[in-house]
Amino acid sequence: MRAAVVGAGPSGFYASDQLLDAGFEVDLFDALPTPYGLVRAGVAPDHPKIKSVTRVYAKTAQHPAFRFFGGVQLGADIARDDLLARYDAVVYAFGTASDNRLGIPGEDLLGSHAATEFVGWYNGHPAHADHAFDLSSERAVVIGNGNVAIDVARMLTLTADELAATDTADHALAAFAGSRTREVVVLGRRGPAQAAFTNPELIELGELARADVTVDSEDVRLDAASAAWLESDAADRTARRNVEILKDYAARPPSGRSHRVVLRFLRSPLEVLDDGNGRVAGLRVAINRIEATATGGLQAVATGEEEVIDCGLVLRSIGYRGAPLAGIPFDDRSGLIRNDEGRVLDASGAPCPGEYTVGWIKRGPSGVIGTNKKCAGGTVARIVEDRDAGRLPVPASPGSEDVEMWLRTRVARLVTWDGWTVIDAHETAAGEPHGRPRVKLVRIPDMHAVAG
Ligand SMILES: Cc1cc2nc3c(=O)[nH]c(=O)nc-3n(C[C@H](O)[C@H](O)[C@H](O)COP(=O)(O)OP(=O)(O)OC[C@H]3O[C@@H](n4cnc5c(N)ncnc54)[C@H](O)[C@@H]3O)c2cc1C
Ligand SMILES: NC(=O)c1ccc[n+]([C@@H]2O[C@H](COP(=O)([O-])OP(=O)(O)OC[C@H]3O[C@@H](n4cnc5c(N)ncnc54)[C@H](OP(=O)(O)O)[C@@H]3O)[C@@H](O)[C@H]2O)c1
Repeated sequence: MRAAVVGAGPSGFYASDQLLDAGFEVDLFDALPTPYGLVRAGVAPDHPKIKSVTRVYAKTAQHPAFRFFGGVQLGADIARDDLLARYDAVVYAFGTASDNRLGIPGEDLLGSHAATEFVGWYNGHPAHADHAFDLSSERAVVIGNGNVAIDVARMLTLTADELAATDTADHALAAFAGSRTREVVVLGRRGPAQAAFTNPELIELGELARADVTVDSEDVRLDAASAAWLESDAADRTARRNVEILKDYAARPPSGRSHRVVLRFLRSPLEVLDDGNGRVAGLRVAINRIEATATGGLQAVATGEEEVIDCGLVLRSIGYRGAPLAGIPFDDRSGLIRNDEGRVLDASGAPCPGEYTVGWIKRGPSGVIGTNKKCAGGTVARIVEDRDAGRLPVPASPGSEDVEMWLRTRVARLVTWDGWTVIDAHETAAGEPHGRPRVKLVRIPDMHAVAG
């Protein structure tokens, strides 16, 4: 039996590996000529060890029943029905590449961007390579208290030498080298106990070579509701440790480093302010307090007080969001493919035979790389159950040899795994003389030219 997996990020690779183990032939598609999804274009360039998980995926690609078809976009080059006609099972693993909006005035001013774009830009994603970020102002504000916000704050304060040893895209290296940003304010709408940071990432922020991390001691004084929650069984170890780390930061005297990362809490953005020429001049924020909800949650409630933070760059890091693809059942409210444990469901809630989903587009944009392995395990178990129960539909054109010929009629430049290995070798060879893991190609025509 043959499976198509759409999206060559972590979830697509884990699903492919497990489908191969279950005896399927697997064709893995990606819209880009390059595999690895957010491991290539999301994970921060100064975290090369995390990126080295791609070795595991490259091993999967060596399986004789595996093929990679890069440069094939579902919804543009091929359609859902094309895949259903050719495969016994189709697995959607195309991630959640869009961003959430704040919905406040001034959000579209020059200098106000989604972190999604900024991350794609410094990581050399072709869709973001031509963006420009104005790093000429002294202060940048990053909205959100997740690990992406930490990545972004760190990237804005790493030294040129630290960045030079990474695979940060060349256009971003040049922009960071000329950056005048000295202070990055990371803004949480709730308190320290509710931050979504994980402990190692928060600790790393306190170890930056040229930036002090600053927390106001008032900001880490816990309100009664948060303190009670932290003491209770409902709190997890990560939250408790985060509060300890933040209290430690609040007690640290400044060391006089040239740059600062300032962590501020209980502030909700109300308006991005215009400098009169359509550029960001600042951020007006509401000051919040924490209140317990009827269901036991802890929410931010505006106190009625406000303040303005002067800045020239605003990056909203408030989570990723999935986008619908033609014909694939989608739940607009959650921004995810409608599914039950990975089985895609139609509008009436009935399973769509032969259609499955995995990864961030299945369960939402949270969780680390490894979370996708377990997630893939769940989906592949459902596929195997359906196969064993005879519930997989019989495809109309099941020939595996025909697929490549058919794809070549749909896309002018198909990049196979061999093509990717040529791109990979080209990038790593370009990086080697400079002690960098790779110099990324950031334009699709350049990738095609190298892949041949
Ligand atoms: C900025 C950032 C940094 C992160 N850093 C870390 C970290 O340091 N450590 C960690 O453990 N986790 C990290 N994560 C989390 C981790 O990256 C995710 O858990 C993981 O990438 C999700 O995998 P996925 O396969 O669901 O989606 P993705 O990785 O997004 O992969 C989706 C793939 O689908 C492709 N695709 C999209 N649309 C189509 C289409 N229409 N047709 C064909 N292909 C398509 C995309 O090109 C992409 O390759 C980070 C996440 C972000 C956003
Ligand atoms: N090194 C790593 O391991 C690493 C690096 C990067 C990412 N990741 C993982 O990738 C996943 C995604 O990370 P993420 O940072 O994008 O998302 P996240 O962890 O979900 O954090 C999103 C943040 O945005 C805030 N937010 C949402 N809407 C907001 C609004 N309207 N106004 C103000 N703040 C708002 C949330 O606050 P509330 O809590 O109040 O909603 C939260 O603090 C996470 O699981 C993360 O751990 C891991």
